Amino acid sequence: MNKQTEPFLLDESVATEAAPQVGISRPHESAHLHVAGTATYTDDIPELAGTLHAALGMSARAHARIRSISLDKVRAARGVVAVLTADDIPAVNDCGPIIHDDPILAREVVQFIGQPVFLVVASSHDAARRAARLGEIEYEDLPPVLSPEAAHAAGSYVLPPMHLTRGEPAARIGAAAHRDSGHIRLGGQEQFYLEGQISYAVPKENDGMHVWCSTQHPTEMQHAVAHMLGWHVHQVQVECRRMGGGFGGKESQSALFACCAALAAWKLLCPVKLRPDRDDDMMITGKRHDFVFDYQAGHDAEGRLEGVQVEMVSRAGFSADLSGPVMTRAICHFDNAYWLPDVQIDGYCGKTNTQSNTAFRGFGGPQGAFAIEYILDNVARAVGRDAFDVRRANLYGKGERNVTPYGQTVEDNVIHELLDELEASSEYRARRAATRAFNAASPVLKKGIAITPVKFGISFNVAHFNQAGALVHVYNDGSVLVNHGGTEMGQGLNTKVAMVVAHELGIRLERVRCSATDTSKVANTSATAASTGADLNGKAAQDAARQIRERLAAFAARKAGVDVSEVRFGDDLVVAGELRQPFDELAREAYVARVQLWSDGFYTTPKLHWDQSKLQGRPFYYFAYGAACSEVLVDTLTGEWRLLRADVLHDAGRSLNPALDIGQVEGAFIQGMGWLTTEELWWNQNGKLMTHAPSTYKIPTVNDCPETFNVRLFQNRNVEDSIHRSKAVGEPPLLLPFSVFFAIRDAVAALGDYRINPPLTAPATGEAILDAADAVREAVAAQE
Ligand code: MTE
Ligand code: HPA
Ligand code: MOS
Repeated sequence: MNKQTEPFLLDESVATEAAPQVGISRPHESAHLHVAGTATYTDDIPELAGTLHAALGMSARAHARIRSISLDKVRAARGVVAVLTADDIPAVNDCGPIIHDDPILAREVVQFIGQPVFLVVASSHDAARRAARLGEIEYEDLPPVLSPEAAHAAGSYVLPPMHLTRGEPAARIGAAAHRDSGHIRLGGQEQFYLEGQISYAVPKENDGMHVWCSTQHPTEMQHAVAHMLGWHVHQVQVECRRMGGGFGGKESQSALFACCAALAAWKLLCPVKLRPDRDDDMMITGKRHDFVFDYQAGHDAEGRLEGVQVEMVSRAGFSADLSGPVMTRAICHFDNAYWLPDVQIDGYCGKTNTQSNTAFRGFGGPQGAFAIEYILDNVARAVGRDAFDVRRANLYGKGERNVTPYGQTVEDNVIHELLDELEASSEYRARRAATRAFNAASPVLKKGIAITPVKFGISFNVAHFNQAGALVHVYNDGSVLVNHGGTEMGQGLNTKVAMVVAHELGIRLERVRCSATDTSKVANTSATAASTGADLNGKAAQDAARQIRERLAAFAARKAGVDVSEVRFGDDLVVAGELRQPFDELAREAYVARVQLWSDGFYTTPKLHWDQSKLQGRPFYYFAYGAACSEVLVDTLTGEWRLLRADVLHDAGRSLNPALDIGQVEGAFIQGMGWLTTEELWWNQNGKLMTHAPSTYKIPTVNDCPETFNVRLFQNRNVEDSIHRSKAVGEPPLLLPFSVFFAIRDAVAALGDYRINPPLTAPATGEAILDAADAVREAVAAQE
């Protein structure tokens, strides 16, 4: 795999002649701890004496009134100290992030199988879990709604529908030379963070609560706990050093665990830890929304779209959670990289009696973009052209055909150049011809190949979330401690922020250390989400570091008797006229001279505006681009397949740390491939999720990675003034493995000489591939 280590030239470098500290590959700040097993996750924090352990008792019915709850056997079980229900919550029984429809513990009505109803607190983790099974709940069943289709048919939604129209799509489709319509099914996805949900709550003096929580959103956990207890926000402190992965699953849904641990700690006045095991975690928490799409498209003989109408229905689950902003992002990514002249998009968040679906890497963007890719894939076969050529014919233009359906002009389009480069480096044309030749001679094993592009909007689609704060301390020995509002979940945010600070102060990265995210240090933070962690917190930390540098520069200038503009920081030195002093020495002298050596910093993303009622505005500061070429081999008699080779070219702008960014691209590619192929969520006829453990839910392993995996960063710089002109990289590459799905579909289409659109559903499991292959064979037979 490629590793790019060339430093970039930096236009805004403070250390122009000195070695830059950004734009170079550096290991993750905790890599040595990860591999040695010494990185502290929430469950590794040494437990205080008297710590108790909690477990949740869960609903066994999808939708029912609770007639009675008998918890006597639970209370009598060995080691049990207390059993709590909704009646024990002192203030508000709600942990919903936007709309307050998320009970912490169900009362009167249960709304999905797995919904927490009571909380057992016991002397050990094991005792709590065993006791939780002994609860006896009598239910009176109510009719459940178990699929997005059923919710839509019943008009049952968690939020009002969203509508976006440009032009006259119905008329354009009616007048088009060719028309296509269809139904697309796209499955959901479990986040499968390696470290599950966990919270450890410790009561503090004078009605205080300290919660260590594996969360992407410490501030919201702080609010949720305060809201539940009826406290002021300043009474609650939430801390998170790192997560063992979040992937969106800990953006809002860590709240239930934080609230339950804090409730028990408040009630019993002792430390309480809540760590659900994997099965319970999967039964309780929401996942990526599965979607169904119904569309109509009109196009010309070349496959250029003229009008498109799409109805998107998501499975929101029993409550709103983040389903609204997820749908908004799905609608704002239906265009992906394509100009859609006349378009209508209708979005419905179906209310179902299943887990409340939530954020997952891409946040609806992958779902919206998948639909247009599927439509173009169909159109290409309908007009008998290579799907890549049809995709290219529909791309956003430069200076024209460049306004999105939601009114934002695409000003930074690099997809044409990027695709040119990938088409050449992947040898797409030659390999496509070779694939066709292979298939002509191979009746059962079929090869397929596809290139798909990505355009992904960067910024929270709720404008006020686009802010961040940081706190930078320079100690008098010249060592630096950075705290910011972002959280570390493996993505390397702390490494990037530390690099930005080191660069700003012209010092070695080794001098800079990041501390745990803590609501008592930086207040009112946003979730580390929407891929904005480094963009927002990097800028905030840069602002703080710059203020300290300016004070040090003024001090050095006074000392050297030169103008402050002549002071240079770099290579761990401060140079001012004749003065040439190590940074740590200067810091010590500045301290003695009573110079403030710490500072806060703040950042807000400029240029954003958004009218949610009209779905119009500029929701994104900029776009990140990418493309991938995948080649697969499919056994059309068993549905087995392999990814033979993948070539990826991804735009991280002027990367802050190419090694970390390539890691993000590789990880997102494989994670997205899992979503679209092997990972299948399956609820039985009663609404019980049957795929709630790795034994039944198949995530990719290292064996599923292609033997040839060429991942490169596209040489680019952000046209917007982002942190050192880099681009966010966390989520956009999750869309790259669309190419895997459409390569599989291409292979199956070979059975019908590429004239029949295989009805392949996502995820393309072995079973789904076989069904699609059978359908193509039957269609061929029917034609003969
Ligand atoms: N990478 C790792 N290793 N672990 C994670 O949990 N989450 C992803 C992405 N990459 C994740 C990850 C998601 S959903 C987002 S929004 C971003 O990281 C958040 O971090 P960033 O904004 O700092 O990129
Ligand atoms: N991504 C993640 N979380 C969010 C977003 C988003 O775009 N908008 C609101 N919360
Ligand atoms: Mo990422 S889904 O925005 O946490």
